[in-house]
Amino acid sequence: MFGKKKEKIDVRALVEASNLRHIAFIMDGNGRWATAKGLPREAGHSAGAKNFKTVVRYCKSIGIGYVTVYAFSTENWRRPEREVNAIMALLDSYMAEAREETDVEFRFIGDVTPLDEKIKVKIAELESFTKGREYRLNIALNYGGRAEIVSAVKRAVEEGITDITEADISARLYTADCPEPDLIVRTGGEFRTSNFLMWQGAYSELYFSDKLWPAYSTGDVDAAVISFAGRKRRFGGLDKK
Ligand code: FPP
Repeated sequence: MFGKKKEKIDVRALVEASNLRHIAFIMDGNGRWATAKGLPREAGHSAGAKNFKTVVRYCKSIGIGYVTVYAFSTENWRRPEREVNAIMALLDSYMAEAREETDVEFRFIGDVTPLDEKIKVKIAELESFTKGREYRLNIALNYGGRAEIVSAVKRAVEEGITDITEADISARLYTADCPEPDLIVRTGGEFRTSNFLMWQGAYSELYFSDKLWPAYSTGDVDAAVISFAGRKRRFGGLDKK
C-alpha cells in the first residue's frame, strides 16, 4: 500500500530520442492462441487481424512513422486451403476498413501476382488513394526476403547495370522509399526472422516476445521500445566517444 509509485515512462519521447522511425512485426502465434482456447486456427487469425489494427494505431500515436507487418509469407501457401482462405478474407475485408486510417499511406510489399483478381484491384486502389500521406504502413503479402533480393537484382540487370552495388539493390526493393527498419519484433516465442526483410534488416535491432500475437498489447510495444532505446547501435563501427 505504501509501495513506490511506478514511474510513468514517456514512450513517445523515447521513440523520438532513440530515433525509432521504422518498426516491423512478425505477427506470430495466432494459431496457438486459438488452439489454447479450443478455437479453430482461423479464429486466431481473426483475433490477430483485430490486434494488428490496435498495434498499428498505437505505433502511430507514439510517433513511429513507418510500420511493416508480415501478414503472409511465400511459404504460407503450404497451409491448409481453409486457413489460407481465411487470412485472404481478413485482408480483403480490411481493405475497406483501411480507408478509415486517414493519415496512413498503405503499401503492399511482396509478389501480389498470384492473388485473387478482386483483391489485387482493391490493393491497387488503396495504394493510390492513400499515396503521399504522413504515416506509412507496409503490409507484407506473399512476401519473401530472398525473392525480394532476387527480383531487385533481376531488375538491375534488365536495366543494363553490370557492376551492381548495394545501393542499386536497395533502390529496387519494395521498401526503397522507407528508412531501414530500426526494430524488428517477433511475437510467439520463436527466435528467428523467417525470411522477413532480409536485406533491409541487416542492422535492425531484434526483439522477441513470448506473447502470442492476438495477446500482444500496447504495453508490450512499450516494452520493446524501452528495450530498443537502451541499445547501442554501432552499425559495425565503434561507440562514439
Ligand atoms: C502467424 O501465426 C501468422 C500468420 C501466418 C498470419 C498473420 C495474419 C494476420 C495477423 C491477419 C492478417 C490480416 C491483416 C488485416 C493484416 P501462426 O498461424 O503461424 O501461429 P502459430 O505459430 O501459433 O501456428
